[in-house]
Amino acid sequence: MTARIFVPGDSGALALGADKVARALADGLAERGLDAEIVRNGSRGLYWLEPMVEVETERGRIAYGPVAPADVPALLAGDLLAGGDHALRLGDPEEIPFLKRQSRLTFARCGITDPLSLDDYRAHGGLAGLEKAVAMTPAAIVDQVTESGLRGRGGAGFPTGIKWKTVLATTDARKYIVCNADEGDSGTFADRMIMEGDPFVLIEGMAIAGIATGATKGYVYLRSEYPHAIRVMDAAIAIARTAGILGASVLGSPNAFDIEVRVGAGAYVCGEETSLLESLEGKRGQVRAKPPLPAHKGLFGRPTVVNNVISLASVPVIMDKGAAFYRDFGMGRSRGTIPIQIAGNVRHGGLFEAGFGLTLGEIVDEIGGGTATGRPVKAVQVGGPLGAYFPRALFDTPFDYEAFAAKDGLIGHAGIVVFDDTADMLKQARFAMEFCAVESCGKCTPCRIGSVRGVEVIDKIAAGEAPDTQIALVSDLCNTMKFGSLCALGGFTPYPVMSALTHFPEDFRPRAMNEAAE
Ligand SMILES: Cc1cc2nc3c(=O)[nH]c(=O)nc-3n(C[C@H](O)[C@H](O)[C@H](O)COP(=O)(O)O)c2cc1C
Ligand code: SF4
Repeated sequence: MTARIFVPGDSGALALGADKVARALADGLAERGLDAEIVRNGSRGLYWLEPMVEVETERGRIAYGPVAPADVPALLAGDLLAGGDHALRLGDPEEIPFLKRQSRLTFARCGITDPLSLDDYRAHGGLAGLEKAVAMTPAAIVDQVTESGLRGRGGAGFPTGIKWKTVLATTDARKYIVCNADEGDSGTFADRMIMEGDPFVLIEGMAIAGIATGATKGYVYLRSEYPHAIRVMDAAIAIARTAGILGASVLGSPNAFDIEVRVGAGAYVCGEETSLLESLEGKRGQVRAKPPLPAHKGLFGRPTVVNNVISLASVPVIMDKGAAFYRDFGMGRSRGTIPIQIAGNVRHGGLFEAGFGLTLGEIVDEIGGGTATGRPVKAVQVGGPLGAYFPRALFDTPFDYEAFAAKDGLIGHAGIVVFDDTADMLKQARFAMEFCAVESCGKCTPCRIGSVRGVEVIDKIAAGEAPDTQIALVSDLCNTMKFGSLCALGGFTPYPVMSALTHFPEDFRPRAMNEAAE
């Protein structure tokens, strides 16, 4: 039997030199006359160990990492194909604590299968959900998704089943499924990872959404900065079409469904669902006023489901294993699992899928292993550029939509960016206002003008100009932005700004005052 060696081909691993490692392995195997197939899998999400090479042995998979091209000759000489010893040998990847502690439902196959092998996909449980869905009524599918408790993973946490029910209830002859793959949040990469590592699961989820709501066409809105994800999704859609998973008769059923990838230029605001729809229609990405909701009047004025990649990719396992299985994970009203993305100044950066409920401290200190610099953690920003900065004092907060909201924070797309004690929180607050000013679509005044004024006022605080007055002004401005903005870009920018001010007031005092206080 030809041995199989797995070298991740996703953009995270590529950035760390996976292509060079794959080439060195191919050359080394040829030189030694060894028979082995190199499979370019997705990443398991342990990025500090990438490029992580795995070999399939009689005792299961054995991992090595992080592998550099220079390590390859010694690895091959040490009987890599049989899982031989080497300083980089990690053993059974599933036993690495970072992986072992996870509950991988949505990412069950990521890093294990060949992303573009439909046979691999089926062999690892793929298509079981869609097969069940084609035998069900749309209403029964919607009920199952509703009962699972799945909430949108794009940021707002809106119940997916309710959104689908609204679209199902419309009578329009043409409806759409739009997958939001814009993934603009800082420190997030779950959408990209699954599109590159297990694209069929997204296709399967979108097909189920189509059958459940009566939509026959789906679009994946991807950003141009994700060229690998675009390539993999395009290839997977073509394979799915040939195999009859997409097309006039999904898995031989009377349901038609097809998908197209559309590429956006990469504006943060184009991740906001109505702006995204404008962009998909070929217009400038500017936010639409709601109502009407996209579920009633969305793409080209038709009823449209807009869902995040992870929301849609979580549906197949729900259909396959049942609503109760999925709902059993999590806490409170946050049901199921969430792929937490740990990034920034952290020792063990990567993707960690677990049921809701881990505390922020467990995620940062135990799973993430603290900072990469070894200095104390000062703050973590949760939920992207519009998320709050949490200090250590809030590390007992469980990862749960309501628990975070109660502490003036948000989970968003579950990105966590870690900062050590050298971070200047005034600069971070200024950055939040500046980001809002740069990315604002310009439709409403609190955001368009407020963010520019916000930068100016924070600059005055930094310069020590009447700081107390300016701080009161920033708080007032944040209030106006929070309650007066049309969408969450302007409406949520106050979260990072006010959390920085509230939890790290010393960073907003002139340096001379801090020195005097010490
Ligand atoms: C400024 C802004 C940017 C957003 N960016 C994204 C994004 O990149 N991806 C995403 O899925 N949702 C994003 N959202 C949320 C979407 O508007 C929408 O709530 C989501 O796509 C709905 O899907 P879900 O219910 O599956 O989460 C953004 C919202 C705002 C206000
Ligand atoms: S809050 Fe900002 S991004 Fe949102 S609609 Fe208003 S101007 Fe546009």
